Amino acid sequence: MIVRVRDLRFRYPGGAGDVLDGLDFDISEGEIFGFLGPNGSGKSTTQKVLTRILPSYRGAVKVFDKDLGSLRSDYYNHIGVSFEFPNLYEKLTAEENLEFYRGFFDVPTDEPRELLERFDLPVGDSRRVGAFSKGMKMRLVLARSLINRPKLWFLDEPTTGQDPLHAVQIRDMIRQMADGGTTVFLTTHDMTVADKLCDRVAFINDGTLVVVDTPRALKLQDHQRLVRIEYPADGGTLAREEFHLDDPASKQAFVDAIQTREIETIHTLEPSLEDVFLRVTGRGLS
Ligand SMILES: Nc1ncnc2c1ncn2[C@@H]1O[C@H](COP(=O)(O)OP(=O)(O)OP(=O)(O)O)[C@@H](O)[C@H]1O
Ligand SMILES: [Mg+2]
Repeated sequence: MIVRVRDLRFRYPGGAGDVLDGLDFDISEGEIFGFLGPNGSGKSTTQKVLTRILPSYRGAVKVFDKDLGSLRSDYYNHIGVSFEFPNLYEKLTAEENLEFYRGFFDVPTDEPRELLERFDLPVGDSRRVGAFSKGMKMRLVLARSLINRPKLWFLDEPTTGQDPLHAVQIRDMIRQMADGGTTVFLTTHDMTVADKLCDRVAFINDGTLVVVDTPRALKLQDHQRLVRIEYPADGGTLAREEFHLDDPASKQAFVDAIQTREIETIHTLEPSLEDVFLRVTGRGLS
C-alpha cells in the first residue's frame, strides 16, 4: 500500500470544528485515486495533510509504509505536488522556474526543456511567467511537480482552466505516469476526468468519506436498464421513446423500433458520475 489513512482528523488552528472528520482510505501502487466532493468539503486540506503542509493532524497516516509524521524532508524527493492555485515565480521565465525548483532535490531530475515540451509550453521563451495565460501557468505547475520523477503524485484540480486539447493531453499524461508505476492522488471537479481516468474515486462531503469505489460500480448502483431512441416523426418533429430492458414487452418494442424507425440517436441511460455526485453528496457542483 502506498497510502494508508485511518481515522484522519484535522482542525485548522482557531477553527470551530474538524474539517476532516475521520477519513479512512488506502491507495495502492500505480493507482489513480480520485478525490471528489463539493467546495469546502476538505479535498485540498486532505492533500495538504498528506504532503505535510499541515502536520498537526490526528489519526494514523502511512505513506510508503512509514508513519507520515516520522518522514523528514527526504519525503519531498519522492512526491510531486501540484497545487490548486499556481504558485510560481512570476518574474522568472518558465525554464528559470524549473531550474530553480530543481535545485531543491537530492535525486535525479528531469531536464526543464524536456518537461516544457511535454506540457506544450514554449521552450527558449524569454517571457516572464507573469505574462503566461492561466492554463499555461497551471501546466507549468504540473511540469514542475514531475521534475523529481515522483513515486506519488498529488494533483489538485489539474485540468482547471485547460482548453479541451490540453485537458486531453494532461489526462493522457496522468495515465502514462500511472502505467509507469506512479501512484496518483487526484482531486478534481471534472467528472469526465474522474470517470475516464480514475481507477477508484472517493466522494468526500463535510469532511467525511461517503463512498469509495470504481466509477463503473458507482454508476451502475441502483441503475435501471433503460434505452432511449430518437427518430424523425410526422411534421418534421423529433420523436423520443424509452424502453426498459428488464421488461420483456418493452424490450421487444425496442427491437421492433430498431427495425421500423429511422433512428437518429440511441443511448443507454445509466447515471453519469455527476448524477452519482449529486446523489451521494446531496449537493450540486459549483
Ligand atoms: N487556512 C484555512 N484556515 C481555516 N479554515 C480553512 C483554511 N483552509 C480551508 N479551510 C476550511 O476548511 C474546509 C475545507 O476546505 P478545503 O480547501 O479543504 O476544501 P476543498 O474541498 O478543497 O474545496 P474546493 O472544492 O473549493 O477546492 C472549508 O470549510 C474551508 O473554509
Ligand atoms: Mg480545493
